[in-house]
Formats: sequence, C-alpha cells, structure tokens
Amino acid sequence: MASSASPLPGAPYLHHAHGELHLEGVALSQLALQYGTPLFAYSKAAMLHALGAYQKGLAGRKATICYAMKANSNLAILQLFARAGCGFDVVSGGELARVLAAGGRADQVIFSGVGKTRQEMEHALKAGIACFNVESLAELEVLNEVALRVGRRAPVSLRVNPNVDAKTHPYISTGLKGNKFGISHEDAVAAYVHAGQLQGLEVVGIDCHIGSQITEVGPYLDTADRILDLVQAIEATGVTLKHLDFGGGLGINYRGEQPPQADALWALLLAKLDARGFGQRHLVIEPGRSLVGNAGICLTEVLYLKPGETKHFCIVDAAMNDLPRPAMYQAHHHIEAVRPRSGAAVTYDVVGPVCESGDWLGRDRDLTVQAGDVLAVCSTGAYCVAMGSNYNTRNRPAEVLVDGNQVHLIRQRETPQDQWRQEVLLP
Ligand code: LLP
Repeated sequence: MASSASPLPGAPYLHHAHGELHLEGVALSQLALQYGTPLFAYSKAAMLHALGAYQKGLAGRKATICYAMKANSNLAILQLFARAGCGFDVVSGGELARVLAAGGRADQVIFSGVGKTRQEMEHALKAGIACFNVESLAELEVLNEVALRVGRRAPVSLRVNPNVDAKTHPYISTGLKGNKFGISHEDAVAAYVHAGQLQGLEVVGIDCHIGSQITEVGPYLDTADRILDLVQAIEATGVTLKHLDFGGGLGINYRGEQPPQADALWALLLAKLDARGFGQRHLVIEPGRSLVGNAGICLTEVLYLKPGETKHFCIVDAAMNDLPRPAMYQAHHHIEAVRPRSGAAVTYDVVGPVCESGDWLGRDRDLTVQAGDVLAVCSTGAYCVAMGSNYNTRNRPAEVLVDGNQVHLIRQRETPQDQWRQEVLLP
C-alpha cells in the first residue's frame, strides 16, 4: 500500500476538508446522496491543470495535443478538451463520431490503431482528419486504395515500433518487438519509400507510442533518439516529415508513483530535439491517462461486511464491470472512506457484486467502515468507465463533472431498458 507520506492520488483537487473528502468544493458524501452510487466524479480543474502542464511544456512550439480519448470518451470531457484547444487521437469510427458530436475539429484528429476498416477509413477521409497513423504495410495498401476510390489523398504517418522497453505492465507495453503494434524500426525506411510512391497517400509524419503508465524519463529519451535517427534516414531518401508524433503514455499516481510532470518531461525532450535540430518541427502528442486519470474518483457504497475464515470481505455496489482495471491488470487504486470513522481498522478485500472471483477493486485494504458508508476509489478517471460493460445486466454508472462548487451531470445512470434497447424478441 502507499505510504501515509505519499500524497493522496488526485490531490490537491481531491482533499480532506471539515472531516471528509471533497472534490474541489464539493463534499463527496453529498454527491453520493444526490446522484446515487456507483458514481464517477471528475474534477474539471484537475483535467485543465494536467493539460496545462503539457501546454506549458510545449509553449512557443508548433504542437498539437491530441487527447487519446480511449481513456475517457464522455462527450462533456471531449468538449472540455476541444474548448481548451486539443485535438484528438481516435482508434475507431465510433470515437471519431464522438469527437464531432462534442464539437471537436476533424482537422485536429489523428487516427491510430492496427485494425482500421475500409469503412472507417472512408468516413475519416471524408471528414477531413489530420492524419492516419498507419501500423502495417497491408494497411498502407488498403488506405491507398480507399483514398483513390473516394478521390482524396490520405495524410499518413507510419507508427514505428522503436523497440524500447517502457518498463510498465506487459499488457500496456507496446513499443517492444513481439507485440502487434507498429512497423519495425528496421523496416521503417523501406516502408516510407514505398508509401511515398503510392498516389493515394501523402506522407506527413512519423509516429510512435511505447506503452502506458510510464513513470520514468529514460524510455522517452531513448525513444526520441531512435525516432530522430530514423527521421534522418527517412529524409535522406527524399521524403519529408512535417510532424513528429511521440505518442502518449505518461503515468499517474495510483499508489505513490512519482512520474515526471509533463512540462518537466517536455523540457528534457525539447532540449534533445533542439540539440539535434528538430525543435522547430510540428510536434504531436497523444496523452490519455495523464490528462484524466487522477481527476476522477468512483464513489461506491458499502453493502455488506462479510467476515471470512481467511479473509474479510467489504462488498460494495461498484464492480469489475464499472472499474475493470484491478480484474484485468491487478491494478491498484487507492480506496478510502469519504467520511473517516474512528476505531480499529480491519483488513478487507473490497469486492463487487458480480459473480466472478476476479471481481475485486482492492485487496488487503485496512478500512474502518460500516454498511452504508461511501468509499472513494481514487485515480479512476482513465480506463474505467471507458472499459466498462453491462456484465450481469448492471447499469452503467452515472458520471458528474465538478467545477468549483458546481456539479454537472454528464451521464445519466443507465436503466435496464437502455441496456436492451437494441435487442429484439422473437415473433
Ligand atoms: N496513443 C496510442 C497509440 C495508444 O495506444 C494509447 C494507449 C495512447 C496514445 C494513450 O496512452 P496513455 O497516455 O493513456 O498512457 N487500459 C489500460 C491502458 C491501455 C492503453 C492503450 N493505449 C489501462 O487501464 O492501464
């Protein structure tokens, strides 16, 4: 567990005041009472602060911050980032549709992912997106074919796999040989030469992304060196790269991790780019988790305390369908009561109502709680609701955005009827 000295994940926007947890100016017990549980609440100021660190780090440069919306694709959150000047990194036609519905600009959208369909390519081309991040030679051919058919040139970057170890969980490490992402470093120059010859394509940049929840600077600096070497080799063949895309991946505080701040990271990266003569290129980045992760919490009510022979269980009303990261990655999320009680703590596994042993939110947590208490599961702004499901026909939770003392409902709690709307009974 995090040492008591480490800051509360989400601080200072998540903080203790008047003996209970608050998000910005709002008491979390109040939120739970008003909107019910499970409830996801996000701090607007925390998101804008996180974005501000990137904006500060890239100030004075040509740069586009493309929010990797897979982390949290609620329309209101997209709207917030669009209004703050962000572009978007999308990975499906559905995500592009969300960007447009939220008022985002197509010409600031980049489209990543290893399995784009012809239909998705056509829609994105017609919408006028900024760039396709192409991940294989086969995809290059298909995109060329689609572009020629619809009479547009597709702007492309190739996603290059720099073979750098991001030193993160194997499921979320993407920049090493042996995973499905990107074109290998060795094949990149030939792939660019080939792309440059395809009439339906316009080569505009180069892209990489080495993984997620990266907490060290080293892998970024190594990646930058590898990519800049490649840029030199590619440009020596006569292909020009207008933009350099360094992906996302910066980590957050779940249990006391201290990843570099975005502005500090970019100061180091820009020093390297400047030293090698690339500081004036248009830069693109794709941060997801680091913009929203620590801004969000999940409020959940304790339903039952169940003592066991070898373990005690704290059964809550949120589950793996709302918050799948512990079940999927054994991920740690800090959990505490929104109104601390005095008394001796008991060690519990905090589990949900879903019929799976894998349905747990936290293991071996020392809590002083009673049934009816509300717990905050911290650092749940990224990859929680977005990866959620309706398993066990559980309604998706409500979501609110907190702005100072104001609360905006940004997603209504689902109903069973919402869930089966697309289903059809037999005649
Ligand atoms: N760009 C690309 C091409 C990506 O694949 C990703 C994340 C990002 C950007 C954003 O990475 P971020 O800044 O959020 O680290 N579900 C996992 C994380 C999966 C990340 C997938 N790709 C989790 O909950 O930890």
